[in-house]
Amino acid sequence: MLMMAEKANNRYFQTMNIIRSFQDYTTQYKASIANPEDFWAAVANDFSWRKKWDKVLQWDFHKPEVKWFINGKLNITENCLDRHLPERANQTAIIWEPNHPQDESKYITYKELLEHVCRVANMLKAHGVQKGDRVCIYMPMIPETAYAMLACARIGAVHSVVFAGFSAGSLIDRINDAGCKLVLTADGAYRGDKTINLKGIVDEALEKCPTVEKVIVAERVNSKPALKAGRDFRWNEEISKASADCPAVETDAEDLLFILYTSGSTGKPKGMVHTCGGYMVYTNYTFRTAFQYQEGQVYWCTADVGWITGHSYIIYGPLSAGATTLMFEGIPSWPDWGRFWHVVEKHRVNIFYTAPTAIRSLEKAPLSFVKQYDLHSLKILGTVGEPINEEAWHWYHEHIGQKRCPVIDTWWQTETGGFMISPIASVTKLKPAFATLPLPGVQPAVMDEKGNELTTNEVEGRLAIKFPWPSMARTIYGDHQRFKETYFSTFPGKYFTGDGCRRDSDGYYRITGRVDDIIIVSGHNLGTAEIESAIDEHSAVCESAVVGYPHDIKGQGIYAFVICYDKPHEEENLRNEIREIVSKIIGPIAKPDKIQFVSGLPKTRSGKIMRRILRKVAEGDTTNLGDVTTLLDPGVVDEIKNGAL
Ligand code: WTA
Repeated sequence: MLMMAEKANNRYFQTMNIIRSFQDYTTQYKASIANPEDFWAAVANDFSWRKKWDKVLQWDFHKPEVKWFINGKLNITENCLDRHLPERANQTAIIWEPNHPQDESKYITYKELLEHVCRVANMLKAHGVQKGDRVCIYMPMIPETAYAMLACARIGAVHSVVFAGFSAGSLIDRINDAGCKLVLTADGAYRGDKTINLKGIVDEALEKCPTVEKVIVAERVNSKPALKAGRDFRWNEEISKASADCPAVETDAEDLLFILYTSGSTGKPKGMVHTCGGYMVYTNYTFRTAFQYQEGQVYWCTADVGWITGHSYIIYGPLSAGATTLMFEGIPSWPDWGRFWHVVEKHRVNIFYTAPTAIRSLEKAPLSFVKQYDLHSLKILGTVGEPINEEAWHWYHEHIGQKRCPVIDTWWQTETGGFMISPIASVTKLKPAFATLPLPGVQPAVMDEKGNELTTNEVEGRLAIKFPWPSMARTIYGDHQRFKETYFSTFPGKYFTGDGCRRDSDGYYRITGRVDDIIIVSGHNLGTAEIESAIDEHSAVCESAVVGYPHDIKGQGIYAFVICYDKPHEEENLRNEIREIVSKIIGPIAKPDKIQFVSGLPKTRSGKIMRRILRKVAEGDTTNLGDVTTLLDPGVVDEIKNGAL
């Protein structure tokens, strides 16, 4: 009976790896650790492979090298699209909800999605894109963006999606680092009542991007931008010439699927490389397992496709599982704070996945915005991106989930490709603000500062992972040495996450936040070094230091300490100019919330900035700054304390 029920539930994913009880979880977790290769081979068997692998895993964290499903051949889009057609050609694959509530939603079936993807794939081919070429996607949250990602995958090209909120400067860095040949963009993007001129930003960027040969511009805001002859093409015109049939190119399991940039604690952003086979298997498995996705449910992840959450859990995980995934173009606050709940009611959403920063701002709005809508369709809630505070957790659980819906707090990273530590909905006993337990195949380790693993419970330290999982990033594009230094050198033989964590007496994990120089602002990772170098571009600025501080809505705010060549006369004007520069170089998300002008920074004798002191000041805790006697100029600390904002 159970087998039949499972089969009816999902044709592809049959019995072996389905978890329905805590007992199943314990058994499978143990099996996944005792025999990882057998475990993942059984999961991978459920997919459509052109050729099965010779060996499941080859790895060495010292090199580092990780390969999964060696010599396996596949195309991920055959798994996300073609194989669904016999059973669900007319099922909605993507529900698209536009920015403006009065505009019509779109319902794209699996059959239609395949046709759209093939057309875009043929359009790319007609413009010279070949297997292995990098394509930059700088687009709004419109269905064409999903088609574009899958079209690259169909022909074995590597997509690099750049979040459409990034500025020209950020776009230049990312296009040049990946050596993109073609850019897919749109005339503009809607964001609430604003329109963003995407094509204008692309034009500005391309003055400094020698590898880009062509740009294809989708139409969204009807702004009719100027096209540069020979370089720019209209999406609609090009697509009308393309056939709806495009054979999928065979890729190796270890061929690149995409590059996605994430901020680093030093220097430029890191192009994390994900590959076809392992990424497909893991995003699919974690999507089905953690959310307990059931056939026919409507699933909505509110992230932007420009982030890893959008890649793994709007596109590849859900589509490979034959789910109905909702893509939302708008923002939670427009036309009013009820917009999310309006969408939940309208599309009868069953699984809703968002970020703590969104929950905190929604929580501040009057409850009447929630109460107007019927949220009975909701069954499961999720969060991602930063630690969720208990208050927000309870509000979400009580007012959105109406105490019926488990809240799954999924801890993971751009680098991990998929969920690592997360409750399994309705299976794992929840604890507010805890990501709870590792998913099968994930072997966490809590490390002390000296690099020893803390093996008991009730410990706090740094979070590392001891064993590979299929969707881990394989390298940083073009810089394997940096990959090694960033992730595999702090604790040799282990992957270092950059996060701190606590393991409590039940063995549950609570992620406490970054322990490096990355700050997470409204769920977006930003490197302090990147913001500092943008601030330093202002001609009046001599040096700066940036730290995070607790912020009610954003989780962390950005606090900049700035030294100018001359004492500023008009402090407020200068602050605005600095914010503008940062917005132009990185993007509006990186604008400092607070800017304090100082005459010096607390530095050690070797010239290292003591960020610990700056963090304390930014947090408003100036009573206990610790030992300052080792500083080059201890006097500067008093000045900083007295001028704190
Ligand atoms: C943080 C997002 C606490 C963490 C998928 C991590 C979290 C960084 C959680 C990765 C969570 C993500 N609880 N912290 N549930 N999820 N983080 O690369 O610091 O944008 O290292 O990937 O976000 O952010 P990224």
